[in-house]
Amino acid sequence: MNKEVTTKQTLLTGDRPTGKLHLGHYVGSLKNRVDMQNSGLYNPYIMIADMQALTDNAKNPEKIQKNLREVALDYLSIGIDPAKSVIFIQSRIPELCEMTMYFLNLVTVSRLQRNPTIKEEIKQRGFEKNIPAGFLAYPISQASDILAFNTDIVPVGEDQLPVIEQTREIVQSFNSVYGNTFKMPEAKVPTLKMQRRLPGIDGDAKMSKSANNAIYLSDTPEEIKAKVMSMYTDPNHIHVEDKGQVDGNMVFTYLDVFGSDKAKIKEMKEHYKAGGLGDVTVKKYLIQVLEELLTPFRERRKYYEQHLDLVDNILIEGSNKAQAVASETLKRMRKAIGVEYFDI
Ligand code: TRP
Repeated sequence: MNKEVTTKQTLLTGDRPTGKLHLGHYVGSLKNRVDMQNSGLYNPYIMIADMQALTDNAKNPEKIQKNLREVALDYLSIGIDPAKSVIFIQSRIPELCEMTMYFLNLVTVSRLQRNPTIKEEIKQRGFEKNIPAGFLAYPISQASDILAFNTDIVPVGEDQLPVIEQTREIVQSFNSVYGNTFKMPEAKVPTLKMQRRLPGIDGDAKMSKSANNAIYLSDTPEEIKAKVMSMYTDPNHIHVEDKGQVDGNMVFTYLDVFGSDKAKIKEMKEHYKAGGLGDVTVKKYLIQVLEELLTPFRERRKYYEQHLDLVDNILIEGSNKAQAVASETLKRMRKAIGVEYFDI
């Protein structure tokens, strides 16, 4: 094997197909993935976590089905390239479930209940009295997702850090009980605070589908325009000549995150603070900045929407490749535990 291949680090991450992906996902994790993929330094695995999505949507499988292809199109449109990254579907890899069965024995129910991500999600979903067992245990199944591919790095949003910590505890525990079998994975979150948690267009703490404050990667130019025009700015900046606030003003926040002409943005901020710069002018500039980002995404999406059989093939082939790797890992795991009884 050539040296370049053996020294590449493995990257794995994924998303639940419960909705279209938005700009918060993009700056929080997707952009990172594309950059890492294109650096050529990694072997990326990108998983559509349909089984995990079912842990809190068991009675609504149509939602998962419908969004599975949406998420695949989102991936392909932002530049995740099937020639460089393995894009696959979680439920097509049954090996992950067997791995989860063994890991379940190494984690206590109280440890899962203490996981801050799970605690928060239980609250959001009103699951306090009736937690589906699969939902409570999803951090364990997520450990299988990560460990099946000998993953080094897991690029995720900040809210997932406690889940990755759970994986690390499982590695520690498994290796100490059954012998050194799994590598210790590391989480990777973006460096800037605003990227880790992009606020919604209403200025609310987080962009999300449920808060109805998201800009989607698949939004049309008309939708982008309408959403930016409705964005939260400075409520006291009423007349163009009024002095305006830049902090907490979503239009400037988004320009900081998405704009590349930092000198121009700085100048606009000074002008806005001094008075004399209207919201509409700043918003128009943000629309232009977002369109520069989203136009190439739209073009690629259109191509794949017209070739949906190609999208299916990418998912099937990616899943086959992923399964071959997971199957090797499972074999090693079974040997370590001592449940490989026959040498056949
Ligand atoms: N829990 C992640 C989310 O809600 C999705 C996910 C499933 C994932 N398996 C993973 C992320 C493995 C990273 C690694 O977004």
